[in-house]
Amino acid sequence: MKRKKVVILINAISETPTADELDVLIQAVAIETELKALGYVTERLFMGLNMQQVTGQLKKTDPVFVFNLVESLDGSGKLIYFAPALLEHLHIPFTGSSSEAFFVTSNKMLAKSLMLNKNLPTPEWIESDFTDHLKPSALYIAKPVWEDASVGITDASVLRGDKNSVKEFLEKHNDMPYFFEEFIEGREFNISVLGGKRGPEVLPMAEIVFEQYPAGKPKIVGYEAKWDENSFAYQHTVRSFGVEKTDPVLAEKMRQICIDSWKLFGLKGYTRVDFRVDGEGNPWILEINANPCLSPDAGFYAASMQAGYSFKHVVERICEDVWK
Ligand SMILES: Nc1ncnc2c1ncn2[C@@H]1O[C@H](COP(=O)(O)OP(=O)(O)O)[C@@H](O)[C@H]1O
Ligand SMILES: [Mg+2]
Repeated sequence: MKRKKVVILINAISETPTADELDVLIQAVAIETELKALGYVTERLFMGLNMQQVTGQLKKTDPVFVFNLVESLDGSGKLIYFAPALLEHLHIPFTGSSSEAFFVTSNKMLAKSLMLNKNLPTPEWIESDFTDHLKPSALYIAKPVWEDASVGITDASVLRGDKNSVKEFLEKHNDMPYFFEEFIEGREFNISVLGGKRGPEVLPMAEIVFEQYPAGKPKIVGYEAKWDENSFAYQHTVRSFGVEKTDPVLAEKMRQICIDSWKLFGLKGYTRVDFRVDGEGNPWILEINANPCLSPDAGFYAASMQAGYSFKHVVERICEDVWK
């Protein structure tokens, strides 16, 4: 019998790739192995801004479905929804979330407005055109509207809402649009949700513990903490499991929020919801990551292993959602 073909769609890598760009290749290798074990033949296809070229290649290859790993196009996280949009247009089934789910979740302010509308808790925020509404003594974090993977987030992103700090920040960071979100001092959780025939399942909840942070150093998972192996932040942010046992009330609140978010945004396949928890034990959604990173050192993989699932099982479940 002829084996079924799956295209692994990857964003074209730039000539001087950054660590977060290269990570997509690590994911591709891990997924190819499992797809082969599941009986598929795989073919890699790199997607850039040339839609005609990628359309031609997709038509020629004629896959049963596409495993969509595109995280950005031409270095821009804003264009992440182009890949699912093109696949929808071509009527080619694919893994993960739709273009619409991507568009609304990858614009963080738009996602927050929709959460607010459905009473899902997300920290207050101020758009950069309204900085005079910032409370001078309150603490904020400046976040890029469209970026992911902690791109654009450093210690300098945590700042008071006073006019000078904000003005100085915006002058120094005029490369992309930012908004200011109320800083939630407290625990951080990354919660993975896996789809499949039986519907979304919240996997064991990972807490990111900030170890031995000196006073004054913001406890955030910024770009360094995610990508620079030699940095203090990378070495002192440690993943830990067990909140379901130690604080079942908090865990249940977060579980419910994850399921509600899955439904609200029409997510598919796999997703990760990032939270901070304030001093009163209230969880706040920082962001929804549709199609989060699947590489073996990332949170989704770790949560899957904690659940006792093999990566093959995870890939199989993601594939089950393709035809849903
Ligand atoms: N409102 C907030 N309060 C406290 N920390 C935050 C807040 N928003 C973001 N952070 C920190 O910044 C990191 C990255 O922010 P996040 O919203 O998850 O964006 P992304 O991971 O897409 O870059 C978080 O993991 C968290 O450590
Ligand atoms: Mg995040």
